[in-house]
Amino acid sequence: MKLVKLIANLGYGSRKDVAWMFREGRITDVDGEVLYADDKLEHARILVDGEPLDPPPGLVLMMHKPLGVTCSRKDAGRVVYDLLPPRYRVREPALSTVGRLDRDTAGLLLFTDDGALLHRIISPRANVAKVYEATLAEDLRGDEAALFASGTLLLESETTPLAPAALDVLGPRHARLVLHEGRYHQVRRMFAATGNRVETLQRVAIGALTLGELAPGAWRALGTEDVERIFTAMPEALT
Ligand code: URA
Repeated sequence: MKLVKLIANLGYGSRKDVAWMFREGRITDVDGEVLYADDKLEHARILVDGEPLDPPPGLVLMMHKPLGVTCSRKDAGRVVYDLLPPRYRVREPALSTVGRLDRDTAGLLLFTDDGALLHRIISPRANVAKVYEATLAEDLRGDEAALFASGTLLLESETTPLAPAALDVLGPRHARLVLHEGRYHQVRRMFAATGNRVETLQRVAIGALTLGELAPGAWRALGTEDVERIFTAMPEALT
Protein backbone atom coordinates (compact mmCIF):
# COMPACT_ATOMS: atom_id res chain seq x y z
CA MET A 1 0.00 0.00 0.00
CA LYS A 2 1.24 3.48 -0.82
CA LEU A 3 2.31 5.51 2.19
CA VAL A 4 -0.21 8.23 1.45
CA LYS A 5 -3.10 5.74 1.67
CA LEU A 6 -1.64 3.97 4.71
CA ILE A 7 -1.28 7.24 6.62
CA ALA A 8 -4.70 8.58 5.54
CA ASN A 9 -6.30 5.28 6.67
CA LEU A 10 -4.72 5.74 10.10
CA GLY A 11 -6.82 8.88 10.51
CA TYR A 12 -4.13 11.55 9.94
CA GLY A 13 -6.36 13.28 7.34
CA SER A 14 -7.79 12.84 3.87
CA ARG A 15 -5.41 11.63 1.16
CA LYS A 16 -5.22 15.25 0.04
CA ASP A 17 -4.27 16.40 3.56
CA VAL A 18 -1.66 13.66 3.81
CA ALA A 19 -0.26 14.53 0.36
CA TRP A 20 0.32 18.04 1.74
CA MET A 21 2.01 16.64 4.81
CA PHE A 22 4.49 14.89 2.49
CA ARG A 23 5.08 18.13 0.55
CA GLU A 24 5.72 19.96 3.80
CA GLY A 25 8.36 17.38 4.72
CA ARG A 26 6.48 16.33 7.86
CA ILE A 27 6.76 12.62 7.08
CA THR A 28 10.25 11.21 7.49
CA ASP A 29 12.03 7.99 8.24
CA VAL A 30 13.65 7.36 11.61
CA ASP A 31 16.89 8.91 10.32
CA GLY A 32 15.11 12.17 9.46
CA GLU A 33 15.11 11.53 5.68
CA VAL A 34 12.03 13.15 4.10
CA LEU A 35 9.70 10.55 2.57
CA TYR A 36 7.53 10.71 -0.56
CA ALA A 37 3.92 9.68 -1.03
CA ASP A 38 4.68 6.54 -3.05
CA ASP A 39 7.68 5.35 -1.01
CA LYS A 40 7.41 1.87 0.49
CA LEU A 41 8.86 1.47 3.95
CA GLU A 42 8.55 -0.65 7.08
CA HIS A 43 5.81 0.78 9.33
CA ALA A 44 8.10 1.05 12.36
CA ARG A 45 10.53 3.31 10.44
CA ILE A 46 8.00 6.02 9.63
CA LEU A 47 7.68 9.23 11.66
CA VAL A 48 5.05 11.97 11.39
CA ASP A 49 6.21 15.30 12.81
CA GLY A 50 9.03 13.33 14.44
CA GLU A 51 6.63 10.96 16.24
CA PRO A 52 6.23 7.24 15.48
CA LEU A 53 3.31 6.45 13.19
CA ASP A 54 0.23 5.05 14.98
CA PRO A 55 0.12 1.22 15.07
CA PRO A 56 -0.92 -0.53 11.85
CA PRO A 57 -4.23 -2.40 11.42
CA GLY A 58 -4.49 -5.38 13.76
CA LEU A 59 -4.64 -2.99 16.69
CA VAL A 60 -6.00 -4.25 20.02
CA LEU A 61 -6.40 -1.90 22.99
CA MET A 62 -7.53 -2.29 26.55
CA MET A 63 -9.10 0.58 28.46
CA HIS A 64 -10.08 1.00 32.07
CA LYS A 65 -13.51 2.39 31.26
CA PRO A 66 -14.51 4.92 33.89
CA LEU A 67 -18.10 5.42 35.08
CA GLY A 68 -20.29 7.86 33.17
CA VAL A 69 -18.99 7.26 29.64
CA THR A 70 -20.93 5.40 26.97
CA CYS A 71 -19.65 2.62 24.69
CA SER A 72 -20.71 4.27 21.44
CA ARG A 73 -19.20 6.53 18.82
CA LYS A 74 -21.76 9.29 19.22
CA ASP A 75 -23.83 10.16 22.23
CA ALA A 76 -25.06 13.34 23.87
CA GLY A 77 -22.65 12.69 26.76
CA ARG A 78 -19.05 11.49 26.96
CA VAL A 79 -18.14 8.39 24.96
CA VAL A 80 -15.21 5.98 25.31
CA TYR A 81 -13.67 7.29 22.05
CA ASP A 82 -13.23 10.69 23.74
CA LEU A 83 -10.55 9.01 25.89
CA LEU A 84 -8.49 7.91 22.85
CA PRO A 85 -6.49 10.07 20.44
CA PRO A 86 -8.96 11.70 17.96
CA ARG A 87 -7.35 9.82 15.03
CA TYR A 88 -8.44 6.49 16.54
CA ARG A 89 -12.08 7.41 15.99
CA VAL A 90 -11.64 7.72 12.22
CA ARG A 91 -9.07 4.98 11.46
CA GLU A 92 -9.83 2.49 8.70
CA PRO A 93 -10.51 -0.33 9.34
CA ALA A 94 -12.65 1.01 12.17
CA LEU A 95 -11.66 0.48 15.78
CA SER A 96 -14.68 -1.05 17.58
CA THR A 97 -15.38 -1.95 21.17
CA VAL A 98 -15.48 -5.69 21.85
CA GLY A 99 -18.96 -5.86 23.32
CA ARG A 100 -20.08 -3.08 25.61
CA LEU A 101 -20.19 -2.01 29.21
CA ASP A 102 -23.11 0.07 30.51
CA ARG A 103 -22.57 3.75 31.17
CA ASP A 104 -22.65 2.97 34.91
CA THR A 105 -20.26 0.02 34.70
CA ALA A 106 -16.51 0.56 35.00
CA GLY A 107 -13.62 -1.73 34.15
CA LEU A 108 -11.89 -3.64 31.43
CA LEU A 109 -13.03 -2.80 27.91
CA LEU A 110 -11.33 -4.06 24.75
CA PHE A 111 -11.19 -2.39 21.34
CA THR A 112 -9.98 -3.86 18.07
CA ASP A 113 -10.03 -3.22 14.34
CA ASP A 114 -9.63 -6.95 13.67
CA GLY A 115 -13.14 -8.27 12.94
CA ALA A 116 -12.10 -11.94 13.12
CA LEU A 117 -10.51 -11.43 16.54
CA LEU A 118 -13.56 -9.52 17.78
CA HIS A 119 -15.84 -12.38 16.79
CA ARG A 120 -13.50 -14.92 18.28
CA ILE A 121 -13.62 -13.12 21.67
CA ILE A 122 -17.40 -12.75 21.78
CA SER A 123 -18.25 -16.09 20.19
CA PRO A 124 -19.89 -18.48 22.71
CA ARG A 125 -17.66 -21.21 21.28
CA ALA A 126 -14.50 -19.48 22.55
CA ASN A 127 -16.00 -19.64 26.06
CA VAL A 128 -14.04 -16.55 27.18
CA ALA A 129 -14.70 -15.73 30.85
CA LYS A 130 -15.80 -12.21 31.77
CA VAL A 131 -15.24 -11.48 35.44
CA TYR A 132 -17.31 -8.84 37.26
CA GLU A 133 -17.31 -7.53 40.80
CA ALA A 134 -20.55 -6.12 42.10
CA THR A 135 -21.65 -4.40 45.26
CA LEU A 136 -25.29 -4.90 46.10
CA ALA A 137 -28.04 -2.89 47.76
CA GLU A 138 -29.19 -5.85 49.91
CA ASP A 139 -27.44 -8.75 51.65
CA LEU A 140 -27.04 -11.86 49.52
CA ARG A 141 -29.71 -14.47 50.31
CA GLY A 142 -27.34 -17.45 50.14
CA ASP A 143 -28.96 -19.31 47.25
CA GLU A 144 -27.63 -17.09 44.43
CA ALA A 145 -24.55 -19.22 43.63
CA ALA A 146 -26.69 -22.34 43.12
CA LEU A 147 -29.25 -20.44 41.04
CA PHE A 148 -26.62 -18.81 38.79
CA ALA A 149 -24.77 -22.12 38.36
CA SER A 150 -27.93 -24.03 37.50
CA GLY A 151 -28.13 -23.15 33.82
CA THR A 152 -31.91 -22.74 34.25
CA LEU A 153 -32.23 -19.07 35.21
CA LEU A 154 -34.51 -17.33 32.75
CA LEU A 155 -34.29 -13.54 32.70
CA GLU A 156 -37.41 -11.46 32.23
CA SER A 157 -38.59 -11.27 28.59
CA GLU A 158 -36.07 -13.93 27.45
CA THR A 159 -36.78 -17.40 26.12
CA THR A 160 -33.41 -19.14 26.62
CA PRO A 161 -32.03 -19.73 30.10
CA LEU A 162 -28.63 -18.32 31.02
CA ALA A 163 -25.55 -20.46 30.72
CA PRO A 164 -24.17 -21.55 34.12
CA ALA A 165 -22.26 -18.72 35.84
CA ALA A 166 -19.99 -18.89 38.88
CA LEU A 167 -20.63 -16.64 41.88
CA ASP A 168 -18.04 -16.07 44.55
CA VAL A 169 -19.25 -14.31 47.69
CA LEU A 170 -16.71 -11.68 48.80
CA GLY A 171 -18.83 -10.13 51.57
CA PRO A 172 -22.50 -9.81 52.62
CA ARG A 173 -23.13 -7.36 49.76
CA HIS A 174 -20.09 -7.99 47.59
CA ALA A 175 -19.68 -10.69 44.96
CA ARG A 176 -17.61 -11.77 42.00
CA LEU A 177 -19.43 -13.26 39.04
CA VAL A 178 -17.89 -15.12 36.11
CA LEU A 179 -19.94 -15.14 32.90
CA HIS A 180 -19.30 -16.84 29.59
CA GLU A 181 -21.90 -14.90 27.66
CA GLY A 182 -22.87 -11.26 27.38
CA ARG A 183 -26.56 -10.47 27.38
CA TYR A 184 -28.00 -7.00 27.74
CA HIS A 185 -27.48 -5.68 31.31
CA GLN A 186 -26.84 -9.29 32.27
CA VAL A 187 -25.28 -8.87 35.72
CA ARG A 188 -27.83 -6.29 36.86
CA ARG A 189 -30.70 -8.45 35.60
CA MET A 190 -29.32 -11.59 37.26
CA PHE A 191 -29.24 -9.93 40.66
CA ALA A 192 -32.64 -8.31 39.99
CA ALA A 193 -33.97 -11.85 39.46
CA THR A 194 -32.97 -12.60 43.07
CA GLY A 195 -34.72 -9.49 44.40
CA ASN A 196 -31.47 -7.55 44.80
CA ARG A 197 -30.01 -4.49 43.05
CA VAL A 198 -26.47 -3.86 41.80
CA GLU A 199 -25.08 -0.64 43.25
CA THR A 200 -21.64 -0.67 41.66
CA LEU A 201 -20.31 -2.91 38.92
CA GLN A 202 -16.82 -3.35 37.54
CA ARG A 203 -15.39 -5.81 35.01
CA VAL A 204 -12.05 -6.90 36.42
CA ALA A 205 -10.89 -9.48 33.85
CA ILE A 206 -11.52 -11.02 30.45
CA GLY A 207 -9.99 -14.50 30.42
CA ALA A 208 -6.67 -14.12 32.21
CA LEU A 209 -6.27 -10.48 31.12
CA THR A 210 -6.79 -8.24 34.15
CA LEU A 211 -6.95 -4.47 34.58
CA GLY A 212 -3.57 -4.52 36.35
CA GLU A 213 -2.36 -1.04 37.25
CA LEU A 214 -4.40 0.72 34.58
CA ALA A 215 -6.11 3.76 36.15
CA PRO A 216 -9.71 4.71 35.28
CA GLY A 217 -9.72 6.44 31.89
CA ALA A 218 -6.30 5.06 30.91
CA TRP A 219 -5.67 2.67 28.00
CA ARG A 220 -2.82 0.76 26.38
CA ALA A 221 -2.17 -1.20 23.21
CA LEU A 222 -1.98 -4.97 23.69
CA GLY A 223 0.83 -7.18 22.47
CA THR A 224 0.48 -10.77 21.26
CA GLU A 225 0.99 -12.18 24.78
CA ASP A 226 -1.79 -9.97 26.20
CA VAL A 227 -4.13 -11.10 23.43
CA GLU A 228 -3.30 -14.74 24.22
CA ARG A 229 -4.23 -14.06 27.85
CA ILE A 230 -7.80 -13.28 26.73
CA PHE A 231 -8.13 -16.91 25.62
CA THR A 232 -6.35 -18.34 28.67
CA ALA A 233 -8.16 -19.65 31.73
CA MET A 234 -8.52 -17.12 34.53
CA PRO A 235 -5.82 -16.92 37.21
CA GLU A 236 -6.45 -18.82 40.46
CA ALA A 237 -7.05 -15.54 42.31
CA LEU A 238 -10.15 -14.93 40.21
CA THR A 239 -11.64 -18.42 40.25
N1 URA B 1 -23.73 -6.72 32.96
C1 URA B 1 -24.35 -5.54 33.21
O1 URA B 1 -25.42 -5.50 33.82
N2 URA B 1 -23.77 -4.43 32.76
C2 URA B 1 -22.59 -4.40 32.11
O2 URA B 1 -22.11 -3.34 31.75
C3 URA B 1 -21.96 -5.63 31.87
C4 URA B 1 -22.55 -6.78 32.31
